[in-house]
Amino acid sequence: MRMILVTGGAGYIGSHTVLALLGHGYDVVVYDNLCNSSYECLRRVSLIAGRNFEFIEGDIRDTAKLSQVFDDFEISCVVHFAGLKSVSESIENPLKYYDFNVGGTNNLLAVMREKEVYRFVFSSSATVYGENAAVPCVEDMPHGDMTNPYGRSKAMIEDILLDLAHSDEKWSITVLRYFNPIGAHESGLIGEDPLDVPSNLMPYITQVAVRRLPHLQIFGNDYETKDGTCERDFIHVMDLANGHVLAVARESEFGIDTFNLGTGKATSVLKMVREFERVTQIEIPMVVVGKRQGDLPQVWADVTKAKEVLDWEAQYSLPKMLEDAWRWQRKNPLGYRAASSEKVDYS
Ligand code: NAD
Ligand code: UD1
Repeated sequence: MRMILVTGGAGYIGSHTVLALLGHGYDVVVYDNLCNSSYECLRRVSLIAGRNFEFIEGDIRDTAKLSQVFDDFEISCVVHFAGLKSVSESIENPLKYYDFNVGGTNNLLAVMREKEVYRFVFSSSATVYGENAAVPCVEDMPHGDMTNPYGRSKAMIEDILLDLAHSDEKWSITVLRYFNPIGAHESGLIGEDPLDVPSNLMPYITQVAVRRLPHLQIFGNDYETKDGTCERDFIHVMDLANGHVLAVARESEFGIDTFNLGTGKATSVLKMVREFERVTQIEIPMVVVGKRQGDLPQVWADVTKAKEVLDWEAQYSLPKMLEDAWRWQRKNPLGYRAASSEKVDYS
């Protein structure tokens, strides 16, 4: 069976994808420096899968360590999640973001070329459509203007990948642009575990629900949308994970191809809160505050291409996303951090 190297495999989307790959019979090596994740997550992935996999603690900027991984394992494809993702941190510390995201990816690609491994799946983001993008976003729209270094780092990596694919026809590269991943594996054992106060909507809502945070701030209710709050394309993380499995399975494709991974449906911030309250029967205290800089009124995906080419389509409904996000948070109010000192409910 083929061995897949998953960089950033201990993170939120990476861990769910490792689980999906194991479920489809792939062997997996996770390579992660654990700067935004924990070993406990990997332990639980193996528990759910009922299978073991390899884990190497390392940084994608460490050429020697990465090279060793390719020498030690017969890697056939790399799924690359490793990177930093905080928009606000990227504005405060742009060099760190260009170093980790762009420099790290460049390093990984250089090692792959040296070791003659040419299959690559990359975690990109809807953020590359930029500030003034029309909706729904379609893959062949050009990159737009981005408001922050995080977004620019993703667009730069996409450009590097395009150049690389054009430079040598041996490369087979799939770029996946995620919309707004939420939810968790239905076991409630793995999920999103932000180290700081969450900046994204879903973990903020669930942390208010477990009373880790007092109330939700809604960033603006006078947008030109149905209820005045922003609209996004929320997608279940297991749907994303399955999209990666299909991308890995595209044996014969060469060159570079880009796909949106979203549901193709927009849901407003207010609707998310109301739906969460309905599903969980928990009231979410909220206050409306000013707009957050850089927020777009409406973002959602055109998902035609992923359906036609990858035969992929989101399966999970919004209530299911919310139920699963809540199960994870309810069982793990302090995320993975509690695991060493508190008993985890595996029922
Ligand atoms: P995450 O922070 O949970 O996972 C990223 C993982 O990469 C972490 O385990 C971290 O420890 C690891 N990592 C970071 N820098 C590393 C380095 N230099 N070397 C080795 N490992 C390193 O984030 P996530 O939400 O799972 O996102 C995964 C990828 O998807 C990221 O590239 C992110 O930019 C992209 N993405 C995420 C979202 C989202 O909403 N979560 C949306 C679009 C794109
Ligand atoms: C954000 C990032 C984007 C990144 C994505 C995934 C910005 C401007 N964009 O997207 O680059 O790829 O996360 O990490 O930061 N909201 C609230 N209150 C909150 C949190 C969010 O009202 O406490 C609203 C936001 O205004 C937005 C919506 O909820 O309208 C979704 O926000 P979020 O989850 O942060 O995702 P994006 O802004 O779409």
